[in-house]
Amino acid sequence: WLSYHAELPGAKGAARTAAPLWSRLIDVQEQHLVIDTALSELKQGLGKLYGEQPVIHHSQSQSTDSGEQRKPSIRLGTWAGNNQVASAFTETERAAVQGEGFIIREDDSLQELVIGSETPQGVLYAVFHLLRELTLKQGKSEEAGSALDGEKPLFITEQPVNQLRMINQWDNVDGSIERGYAGRSIFYENGEFTQDLGRIRDYARLLASTGINAISINNVNVHKQESLFLTERYLGDVAKVAAEFRAYGIRLFLCANYASPIEVGGLQTADPLDQQVREWWNIQTAKVYAAIPDFGGYLIKADSENRPGPFTYNRDHADGANMLAEALRPFGGLVIWRCFVYNCKQDWRDRTTDRARAAYDHFKPLDGRFADNVILQIKNGPMDFQVREAVSPLFGAMENTNQVIEFQITQEYTGQQRHLAYLVPQWKEILDFDTYAKGKGSEIKRIADGSLYQRQYSGFAAVSNIGADASWTGHPLAQANLYGYGRLGWNPELSAEAIADEWVRLTFGHDEQVVERITGMLLSSLDIYENYTAPLGVGWMVNPDHHYGPNVDGYEYSKWGTYHFADCHGIGVDRTVKSGTGYTSQYHAENATRYESLETCPDELILFFHHVPYTHVLHSGKTVIQHIYDTHFEGAAQAEALLETWRELEVKVDTVIFDKVAALQEEQADHAKEWRDMINTYFYRKSGIQDEQARKIY
Ligand code: GCU
Repeated sequence: WLSYHAELPGAKGAARTAAPLWSRLIDVQEQHLVIDTALSELKQGLGKLYGEQPVIHHSQSQSTDSGEQRKPSIRLGTWAGNNQVASAFTETERAAVQGEGFIIREDDSLQELVIGSETPQGVLYAVFHLLRELTLKQGKSEEAGSALDGEKPLFITEQPVNQLRMINQWDNVDGSIERGYAGRSIFYENGEFTQDLGRIRDYARLLASTGINAISINNVNVHKQESLFLTERYLGDVAKVAAEFRAYGIRLFLCANYASPIEVGGLQTADPLDQQVREWWNIQTAKVYAAIPDFGGYLIKADSENRPGPFTYNRDHADGANMLAEALRPFGGLVIWRCFVYNCKQDWRDRTTDRARAAYDHFKPLDGRFADNVILQIKNGPMDFQVREAVSPLFGAMENTNQVIEFQITQEYTGQQRHLAYLVPQWKEILDFDTYAKGKGSEIKRIADGSLYQRQYSGFAAVSNIGADASWTGHPLAQANLYGYGRLGWNPELSAEAIADEWVRLTFGHDEQVVERITGMLLSSLDIYENYTAPLGVGWMVNPDHHYGPNVDGYEYSKWGTYHFADCHGIGVDRTVKSGTGYTSQYHAENATRYESLETCPDELILFFHHVPYTHVLHSGKTVIQHIYDTHFEGAAQAEALLETWRELEVKVDTVIFDKVAALQEEQADHAKEWRDMINTYFYRKSGIQDEQARKIY
């Protein structure tokens, strides 16, 4: 999405729109690493867009040349670092954007474009925003068949809605990636940091262009070798990577092993209240900051899926997190503490333990006990990134705690970047969900952005979907998820449609057929995937461990707490207060009542909240069993149609990309039939109920 169309098939011969006069010269006053990045991005981008790179002129700060004498140019900088930029805006205008926000204004009479922000990061975001707007505008002018003359001058004011906009890499130092579907790690190989910092820099560039400002670079499951990242063994390498991200305004975090005092420090204990342990963290953290002065902090997975944590010492999560917070506080560092805590050694015969309840049960009682530089990172749902599950009731339950929402861009349960699944519509639905925590209008997006509870730290985190694959994401169209995540973190009000349209136009150009077909594929993809996989919010039904492909009972008798309870009468998990696990009570009254009752529970979550007979009639008017048959036949047919749609674009899309996507869509179409037949056959055999349309079920 950053080629600015220079790399599109036929681009070289394509007529470019006339370059605005200001695009030939960039005037800058200040020296700053991130401003330098902004300059080089702008130079490159304008060069690609208009065929000629602008000249960069470093003018004296405080220079007083008057408007009349100036050459047409772009002036770019921060309020404090560039007096001409600052004076181009009124105080009120400047006050309207803070921190990483920015203003861009085109002045027709002066033939000038001014880009200003309070911070260098804001200037960089402005540059990417401008280049995006100009690329998108070229499409509009191609459409209109004319240049941009007569259009209103640009005036753009942007302010990121979320403060922390973070990416989590689940990369291991051996070069593998946990739940990675796009090749090996770009960070590590064979136990060492890669020497190819260029690819890392490209990645920083990709991320910054969408507004990302933080990254953790190792797996949340911190193994033996990665535990040493905090030590001299690797700190020099970590610092080099941090420098690449720093140039793009991105702060680096590390996942740390909670048991490090034992495993790295040789102590007998990792008890958070032990003085020696605290001292160990203080010293180690100081070493990290000596190597990386702007280090972000630690991301911690503790007492979760067999990872060590404070429970071993009869301490709770607040004790654990606050100890690390103390070590990080002198340096302005943060502890990001994950809430993905549940019993992963459950007995499937035990119907009272409900994995969905776990995060709330563990963390809600700790509200108010976390230090002010601790942020809880809460997965979007209570289970684990299923294609459909309820939203986590922890959102809206912790008024006195900093929180970020965690999404999963990598498609662990949504087709692993072999199937097409554009996730932005799902994220939108979650963000727009009203928790009623402070009455109507208490949407999750307002908890994530910190505004509902006026929290100091807040935002988005997500598991990345990239690897060393040439297209970054395995499935080339899965790039839309990375792009969309960043854009949504910047502004959750953007629609899934608008984001898809942007990404397709930036990536594939403005050919209307291409835009329409690819956005259409993206926007329908998640519903299609849901249609042929686990029905009505029940989730799972995948092969254990690797989580790809259908296996209805794959997790049914396992310890992971992910059951569907299908028998010959019915299916679903009773999570009601009346007769089930009581999970519904974790929501505020409006939602609790809605989910508790079969009459009001939405169809798409009926099996998440209720155990019902196959003959139960949904709001749609269909029985559960007929819904299962219909959606599975439909989903498989739709997957086939995706392939047909893609094939129509053969002559219009780069051949390598075309072939790659075609092969993947073929696999998806085929695999969707496998899902259809496994699910339909399973439920036909369990229920003995015929398909009303007498289609082929095995
Ligand atoms: C899922 C995933 C694991 C991961 C875990 C987590 O369970 O399958 O690989 O470690 O989430 O988020 O910590």
